[in-house]
Amino acid sequence: MCERIPIQQQLISCHWVRKWKFVENLIAWRLVVACIMLVVILHQPSPISATCRKQDVNSCEAICVPVTGGTTWGENITTAVDTPLEWRCELRIIVIMPTNTSIEASLPRVHPVLMKAEEEIRARQIIPPSVAIRWIFYDDQCDQARATVSAMDGTGRDCGHVILGPTCDYALAPVARIGRFIYNDGIPVITGAGYTFDFVQNKTRCEDEFFMLIRTGWLSFKRIAYFMIDLLKQ
Ligand SMILES: *[C@@H]1O[C@H](CO)[C@@H](O)[C@H](O)[C@H]1NC(C)=O
Ligand SMILES: *[C@@H]1O[C@H](CO)[C@@H](O)[C@H](O)[C@H]1NC(C)=O
Ligand SMILES: *[C@@H]1O[C@H](CO)[C@@H](O)[C@H](O)[C@H]1NC(C)=O
Repeated sequence: MCERIPIQQQLISCHWVRKWKFVENLIAWRLVVACIMLVVILHQPSPISATCRKQDVNSCEAICVPVTGGTTWGENITTAVDTPLEWRCELRIIVIMPTNTSIEASLPRVHPVLMKAEEEIRARQIIPPSVAIRWIFYDDQCDQARATVSAMDGTGRDCGHVILGPTCDYALAPVARIGRFIYNDGIPVITGAGYTFDFVQNKTRCEDEFFMLIRTGWLSFKRIAYFMIDLLKQ
């Protein structure tokens, strides 16, 4: 009776059970409790809140927006209630990287890998096929200021959902620092670089400088140094 069906229907069916209780016995009561618990449990995975700076949620932050009958949606969303709503979903990924190929992790080198990754994501259906992926590229020239501005444009103007971070440590630092204060929930900054000592510190609380930074490796210059020392000791 209370399977995985839309929550409104669930509430209705639970409501019916609740009415039933008065004419029936203890079993009905238990069903009510079970229904209520199910509703609570289904509600439980509330959106993860990483709010380090409380802000109004911008409507463009949503991955899926309702579209009515092929026209773009304006202010009057209420007028669309009786027409079936369609959804347009788009995941916007900001890539901040230098284009100069004399830098190891540069855009021309990384671009084919990203496309390959998208192919893989599609093939394994990691995200639903109806969700489009839009890559938004910024050249930071390994420069702190350019990287910061790219992150601000990428979120403020292009309304990106995730930043594939700068690969130069100096450019990564400011982007990873402001990541926690962009949007209400912060924006994840994912990078394969970030070997400097500071990036390795704990990132579990808002006070941690690089709270929204996700490094894809365990390696850091410090660990490499210790590794070399251990190697020389052998
Ligand atoms: C929105 O609805 C109101 C009231 O029905 C109407 O006056 C207004 O023109 C509508 N606006 C748009 C953009 O359709
Ligand atoms: C790329 O970087 C190298 C080394 O820093 C520099 O010599 C070269 O001029 C740069 N190329 C461009 C197109 O900026
Ligand atoms: C990181 O957190 C762990 C567990 O809370 C703690 O043991 C460790 O000392 C912390 N490291 C730093 C550098 O603060």
